[in-house]
Amino acid sequence: MNTQSLIQDPELADLSADTNRSTIFAQDMKTVCVQGLGFVGAANAAAIASARNHSGQALYRVIGLDLDNEVGRKRASAINEGRVPFPTTDLSLVRAMMTANEIGNLFAVTDNSALSKADVIIVNVGVDVEKLGNVPSARLDPFRAALTVVGENMRPDALVLVETTVPPGTCERVVAPLLERCLELRGFRPDQLQLAYSYERVMPGGSYLASITDMWRVYAGFTFHAAERTEKFLSSYVDVARKPLFRLPNMRSAEMAKVLENTYRAVNIALIDEWERFARRIDVDLFAVLDSIRVRPTHSNIRFPGLGVGGYCLTKDPLFGPASARDIFGYDDLDFPISTLSVCINDAMPHVTAITLEERFGGELGGKRILVLGATYRADVGDTRLSPTITLVSALLERGAAVEVTDPLVDSFDEVEVPFYSDLPSAEKYDAVVIAVGHCQYRELDFSRWIGNSRPLLFDANGVLSREQMMTLSDAGLEVAAIGRGEL
Ligand SMILES: NC(=O)c1ccc[n+]([C@@H]2O[C@H](COP(=O)([O-])OP(=O)(O)OC[C@H]3O[C@@H](n4cnc5c(N)ncnc54)[C@H](O)[C@@H]3O)[C@@H](O)[C@H]2O)c1
Repeated sequence: MNTQSLIQDPELADLSADTNRSTIFAQDMKTVCVQGLGFVGAANAAAIASARNHSGQALYRVIGLDLDNEVGRKRASAINEGRVPFPTTDLSLVRAMMTANEIGNLFAVTDNSALSKADVIIVNVGVDVEKLGNVPSARLDPFRAALTVVGENMRPDALVLVETTVPPGTCERVVAPLLERCLELRGFRPDQLQLAYSYERVMPGGSYLASITDMWRVYAGFTFHAAERTEKFLSSYVDVARKPLFRLPNMRSAEMAKVLENTYRAVNIALIDEWERFARRIDVDLFAVLDSIRVRPTHSNIRFPGLGVGGYCLTKDPLFGPASARDIFGYDDLDFPISTLSVCINDAMPHVTAITLEERFGGELGGKRILVLGATYRADVGDTRLSPTITLVSALLERGAAVEVTDPLVDSFDEVEVPFYSDLPSAEKYDAVVIAVGHCQYRELDFSRWIGNSRPLLFDANGVLSREQMMTLSDAGLEVAAIGRGEL
């Protein structure tokens, strides 16, 4: 498909001119532009392109938009070839992307003029956190730049739906004034602005697509009309019969809902860290303790011990509370000790695995050859951003170990300078193998067979093996240890 011609044609007429295609498109097909084709935006674009009316006709023409740089062009090209731009184990997403490409209602560009075609603009770019000393602050400049481009190109009647995780108050106090000013400069009435906020609960992994289309959504509008339009739009591709939408009274509430739900999870994980240290000293299997607690419905989501926390959300979102209070609302007297500490504890958690390994080797890791299984931040996800394996590898290198990493879901692991293999190497040459990520390849691996006659220490840092599996391996003569299991 020639995406450039689609953009140049004011009515995108070549789509409807194709008789085969016109039969499967709804008469009142709307155009949606998804700005930012990262882990959220790319999947979101496929989810929206999969929306159908009662007659099975595609509801939307979706244009994905990314930056005109190497990364942006690469992501756009993948989508234009019908491929998900990231490694994924979710076949539903792979199929959705292929189908959208075949019928031609999804394509991607790096040309901002695409925004001018859209009835709905979804903002899926990111906002990072930076720390000035101990004070967290949101890096809003790239986000502001993205919104400025929206304001300069959007139709005045387009719905702008921000999905980026932001400090509460950002849409009201940063985005709305910015877009209103852009509209005004272009000679439009600023009070026409249709702005709303609704965050994603995307879980890249086996149910990547379903985590968009089969997930409860929270939203709020800048105006009542924007909230109504958002409800209608979300209802057209989210299974709201099974997962009803939740409308909040204003955008700052919806922004806070996202930040607080991720903070809750980060704190829940951080809490277990100190109990893991205690349980290890007194030889308690903390997994068994937590299993016994989780039967209570009120405690069913208490987290398990593990290697640590990574990825683009839990590592920053709890810091958006303090960033918002100070930078958006001007409150210097509000502290967020628990939220802030959770991020510090979770960041440091991989050191526990390094220290425990060191203890297993009599306090000396110098010269030990260690293979780490898993580079990504989460099982079955091909995303290495801020992964705990990065911290673990650095901590092991600092102790003089010779570290290598393998991960079937990524082609490279540039965050650390160690040998990396996508294919599982032979276990022979290692003194220890650390299971860092519970990819299905490792959950299903016959460790006894893979390890063969070599005898490295097998260390499960992330609750990947059951106690029974570990006992069986131990009975077979393997040296096995784990985070959170006590002495096996
Ligand atoms: N990754 C997740 O699992 C997840 C889940 C829920 C919510 N979120 C939130 O969703 C947002 C996006 O996360 P992500 O993981 O997709 O980030 P990402 O970094 O993978 O993707 C962001 C994309 O936006 C593009 N971009 C930046 N500026 C742009 C501009 N001006 N125009 C067009 N494209 C631009 C970048 O090139 C990049 O491809 C973040 O706020 C994140 O916190 C992420």
